[in-house]
Amino acid sequence: MELLIRNNGRTLSLEPGDTLLGAIRGCGISYSCEDGRCGMCRCHLVRGRVREQARPPRQLFGCRERYILACQTSLLEDTTINIPDIEEPVAHPGGRYRGRVVSVEALSDTVRELRVEIDVPFSFSPGQCAEVELSRGLSRLYSMAGTPGDTELRFHVRMHPHGRASQVIGEDLKAGDPLKIRGPYGTSYLRANHSDPILCISAGTGLAPLLSVLRGIAARQMMNPVFIYVGFMAREDVYGLEELNALLPRILSARARHVLVSAGPTERGLRRGLLTEAIEADFDHLTGFRVHGFGSPFAIDAVVQLLRRKGVAEEHLHLDAYHSVVT
Ligand SMILES: Cc1cc2nc3c(=O)[nH]c(=O)nc-3n(C[C@H](O)[C@H](O)[C@H](O)COP(=O)(O)OP(=O)(O)OC[C@H]3O[C@@H](n4cnc5c(N)ncnc54)[C@H](O)[C@@H]3O)c2cc1C
Ligand code: FES
Repeated sequence: MELLIRNNGRTLSLEPGDTLLGAIRGCGISYSCEDGRCGMCRCHLVRGRVREQARPPRQLFGCRERYILACQTSLLEDTTINIPDIEEPVAHPGGRYRGRVVSVEALSDTVRELRVEIDVPFSFSPGQCAEVELSRGLSRLYSMAGTPGDTELRFHVRMHPHGRASQVIGEDLKAGDPLKIRGPYGTSYLRANHSDPILCISAGTGLAPLLSVLRGIAARQMMNPVFIYVGFMAREDVYGLEELNALLPRILSARARHVLVSAGPTERGLRRGLLTEAIEADFDHLTGFRVHGFGSPFAIDAVVQLLRRKGVAEEHLHLDAYHSVVT
């Protein structure tokens, strides 16, 4: 069977049962876990019938296009695909790591910082997340706040009332406790090989991957204009501004930084309103922008409608809405 990669014009021959990833590795495809969990090997199916062992993890995609996972798919007939970000493939060895809790500290009344030490450097791209297994049968996705290659991972964890993982992290975990890390996961990571303006958005604990993306922009000395919108529900939820402000001088062309509080009183340096209201007011259009957005599903789902209306191309929407995924 023939496989046409439409966005580089290559045609490959596959035997029945061959996985797509096996055939197109080295052709610009990104990948990590190779077992259907991370979403990185997603491809856009243009034409053809395929057999899928697993569908893309819904929580890792904000996009509407028809995606398949290359590591989970074989062909049933001649097929055409597009490979997203073909000019900038990323390959991280996906794996399971044994970790130890370094500390759990309050960043605000509702957010804890969980620091985890692992034995080997963790390979990931800024903006990605990992599955943290707190105990057998209790795993959750949390995004890294730090930089690739860290051996101490930092997560910002929102305390959900009655949330199972929230209770364990908020009340039970202590320094030295063992846990497992699996990953990296997610497709909303920083793309560095372009000169387009970048809009970075976070809602609540989405600040963690936003800080990671900003660290990535700083480390690569990217000159792209960068606009930052950080949203919180109320004044008492605001956290992490010292860390954010310390990073800003390292972003060579940071154009704007807004911290929004959607309800209750504000103070100097904070702006009143919703993320959608601020972005609507500040930009006539966002054509040509790349967007990285993370956090509360309500906020991110509302923002995505606005971004589409303002002209952001579907392939440049890199959004992780923190939907609850119970494992
Ligand atoms: C790609 C991705 C990245 C993520 N990154 C982060 C991150 O960096 N930081 C972060 O904080 N979160 C992140 N999340 C969300 C996280 O994985 C968890 O889903 C979330 O923290 C809730 O976990 P929990 O175990 O505390 O709550 P769960 O036990 O899963 O409960 C989920 C919700 O249901 C409610 N609930 C639970 N039980 C009941 C009940 N009996 N009655 C009524 N309501 C109930 C809880 O209040 C809670 O709001 C991410 C999610 C995704 C998809
Ligand atoms: S490499 Fe295919 S889903 Fe992770």
